[in-house]
Amino acid sequence: MQEKIVQIEAQALSAINSAENLQKLEEVRIQYLGKSSEFTNILRSLGTLSPEQRPQVGALVNQTKQRLEQALNERRNSLVKAAQQQKISSEKIDITLPGKGIKRGKIHPLTQVMNEAKNIFICLGYEIAEGPDVELEYYNFDGLNIPPHHPSRDMWATFFIKDDVILRTHTSPVQIRVMEKRKPPLAIIVPGRVYRRDSDATHSPVFYQLEGFLVDKNITFGDLKGTLTEFLRQIFGRKRNVRFRPSFFPFTEPSAEVDVECVMCDGQGCRLCKGTGWLEILGSGMIDPNVFKGVKIDPEKFTGFAFGMGIERIAMLKYGIDNIRLFYENDLRFLEQF
Ligand code: DAH
Repeated sequence: MQEKIVQIEAQALSAINSAENLQKLEEVRIQYLGKSSEFTNILRSLGTLSPEQRPQVGALVNQTKQRLEQALNERRNSLVKAAQQQKISSEKIDITLPGKGIKRGKIHPLTQVMNEAKNIFICLGYEIAEGPDVELEYYNFDGLNIPPHHPSRDMWATFFIKDDVILRTHTSPVQIRVMEKRKPPLAIIVPGRVYRRDSDATHSPVFYQLEGFLVDKNITFGDLKGTLTEFLRQIFGRKRNVRFRPSFFPFTEPSAEVDVECVMCDGQGCRLCKGTGWLEILGSGMIDPNVFKGVKIDPEKFTGFAFGMGIERIAMLKYGIDNIRLFYENDLRFLEQF
């Protein structure tokens, strides 16, 4: 019997040490230590032994069992470790492989020009205000000294939502919204989308404007000229001449349109500037006293200037783009050039 046990132990140990994975090891355990193993049978048959033999064999069986269990544990641990090592090395990242290029987005040219324009005014101390695209007729027109049925409303081909609600035709209504709530000194710019029933190579029914206004004591036309000249020089270059031309807007008096020397012919006269040597860039003027009265600012105490410009137009002139649709078609061959 003892010999048999020693023999089983030797077989079991060699089976344990050659089990190549956890499943095989479990099979070995069942084979040698499981309920129907030879070993268990021997334990069960201890009762048939003589009283002298029983303790000796019993002790041997138990010691053998302990040794086998220990061997099983050791083998199990080393198999688990090996499996982990295997997993780690199979998941190892080869950092020497060349990476996949990441496609980076770009800022849309209109956003770039808008940001550039905003930054110039922010550096001059202006703050940003915004207003709704769907606007009351009052703010878009009446508050800006454009009464109902006044012929100057024809300057803006308007989209109506209902009787007194429209898509704003310019960013100027935000002047009224701001001045209703706040008192001077005010230095504000208003970036935003505006809407007009107008569509050709240089006009889109939806486009962007940047509005601005400054109100304080003793603001003069000289302040307007200085501010807008500096702005245009930063946008189009220091060398370009700028001129102020009398004009009319219902919300400013006097009004001026501001031109910059043609970017294509440097003032010589060409197709782009229609032979004049000048490009029209923005509308401006001294805020009309009627506008101040509507927002309860005393025009005897305060004066101010205002201006508005189209972002698409500036972008087209800056980059030599002749069709406004290019900004909205999202053709990557176009967008990637900026
Ligand atoms: N709102 C005008 C337009 O859309 C542009 C403009 C002209 C704005 C003169 C002003 C201004 O603030 O003073 O055509």
